[in-house]
Amino acid sequence: MAGRFEGKVALVTAASAGIGAATAEAFAREGAKVMCSDIDDAGGEAIAKRLRDLGADARFMRADATSEDDVEALVKATVQAFGGLDLAANVVGDGHPESSGPEFHTQSLKGWEWTMGVTLRSVFLSMKHEIAYMIEHGGGAICNVSSLAGMLYNPQGGIAYGTAKAGVIRATKFAAMTYADRGVRVNCIAPGITKTAVYDRMEPAFAKQLIDEMMEFPAIKRMIQPSEQADGILWLCSPEASMVTGQVLPIDGGWTAKGQ
Ligand SMILES: NC(=O)c1ccc[n+]([C@@H]2O[C@H](COP(=O)([O-])OP(=O)(O)OC[C@H]3O[C@@H](n4cnc5c(N)ncnc54)[C@H](O)[C@@H]3O)[C@@H](O)[C@H]2O)c1
Repeated sequence: MAGRFEGKVALVTAASAGIGAATAEAFAREGAKVMCSDIDDAGGEAIAKRLRDLGADARFMRADATSEDDVEALVKATVQAFGGLDLAANVVGDGHPESSGPEFHTQSLKGWEWTMGVTLRSVFLSMKHEIAYMIEHGGGAICNVSSLAGMLYNPQGGIAYGTAKAGVIRATKFAAMTYADRGVRVNCIAPGITKTAVYDRMEPAFAKQLIDEMMEFPAIKRMIQPSEQADGILWLCSPEASMVTGQVLPIDGGWTAKGQ
């Protein structure tokens, strides 16, 4: 497929659903060879097939983004399958039900550690192994996924999730500063309320109440499509953003424009 990323190799985590699936598809539509990764095999195989049906070179590999062995093997397999690694979207992140809400004194340690692992450890491990390859092979571009909850006080997101997503922003900036002179750009997006299965997994009445409560904050009063997040990721990874590194792009309907 012809496009902005023709001949490039992209790795996308959390590619079986939501923002990751939309990002994998967007990279494929722009000509990249795409390694889709997730812990959901059925969803991952389905998205890889969809990309191949579109004419792209795409594969799925199961990898738990919180496991260093899995992430290291994933980067190796990507390079082996496609001959390199130029672009990476590190999309994995989530909050544990036991770490919801703003209160510290009732917070469960299990919920905190799970959320930190899935949201922050995953991004650290992905960047570690992607960058190790990129600095030895001509550089690359990485986009992590934070959240508006990492930029401002968002009690709905919970303290562990907000703290981990703030960590994703700091890790992004750290990596950008460290590797700029070795050809690696690192940025992140900070999504607002995006229409994915995250809300389908909640009890419907709770999900509705949560969305209604949060919808008070953005200037544009609708849920964001996963493809609108993917558009931001692709731009940050593209040559058009060649002088952009260490930045956070909020795609949140104007929520964070109110002040941080
Ligand atoms: N949806 C929103 O409103 C919203 C808002 C802000 C930020 N985000 C962030 O966007 C990212 C994607 O969220 P989404 O809404 O698309 O979620 P989603 O639930 O639609 O998809 C998440 C995918 O991640 C996979 N996954 C979970 N744990 C994994 C692990 N350890 N290793 C590999 N894959 C794993 C799941 O199997 C699933 O396919 C997350 O980092 C999330 O925190 C989402």
